[in-house]
Amino acid sequence: MRFIIAFLPLMFFAFRTLDAMISKFYIFDPVKLQELSQNSIAKYGGPGGNTTLLLEDLVEGLRGEYGDKYVNKLSKEEWFFNNAGGAMGAMIILHASITEYLIIFGTPLGTEGHSGVHLAHDYFTILSGEQQFVKPGEIEPTVYSPGMQNHLPRGDAGQYILKGWALELAQGWIPSMLPFGFLDTFTSTLDFANIWKTTYLTGKGIIGQLMIGKI
Ligand SMILES: *[C@@H]1O[C@H](CO)[C@@H](O)[C@H](O)[C@H]1NC(C)=O
Repeated sequence: MRFIIAFLPLMFFAFRTLDAMISKFYIFDPVKLQELSQNSIAKYGGPGGNTTLLLEDLVEGLRGEYGDKYVNKLSKEEWFFNNAGGAMGAMIILHASITEYLIIFGTPLGTEGHSGVHLAHDYFTILSGEQQFVKPGEIEPTVYSPGMQNHLPRGDAGQYILKGWALELAQGWIPSMLPFGFLDTFTSTLDFANIWKTTYLTGKGIIGQLMIGKI
């Protein structure tokens, strides 16, 4: 115990140092992600569009831009549910590492909840449908439509409604976000097959990326 306490200042210093340089580990650019999203929306979005084809086109574009080793394929078996902050949707992991994740998240039915408070920046680019977002003190919501990007800075929180699909990039300390992503299972859904799939695919992503030197 005393041993651990003696090392606390050192650990704190190590965290501060790593935290100050965390952006050096990032490979994704939120501006580029928005641009690629807008390209796919122009081809397959809007009325008369096809969201299935939109997502396929976007993931192809992402793999072309960042390389197959950093962006997973869209495979139907790798979708799972996410219950967090009272909201529910389906998601698929395109990339997960210690400092970044890139996912497609959404629901065609609509959901509402708390964003969570994270040690990470969050960039939420709407692909189809709409997100409404509000912070305490704001009386009217901000409405995000396809092609728009909602940046939630590290440490901030909001309430949202999402009906549609989005490309979500998080940059920061990803493992610190996982409890928020998991806890609704234990207090509400008890969908343990789903939490196992979430854990397995997240772990596979993070370890796979570590093995090719991506932190
Ligand atoms: C969208 O495209 C997919 C794949 O070609 C097709 O299976 C689906 O029926 C289409 N959906 C609509 C709403 O047209």
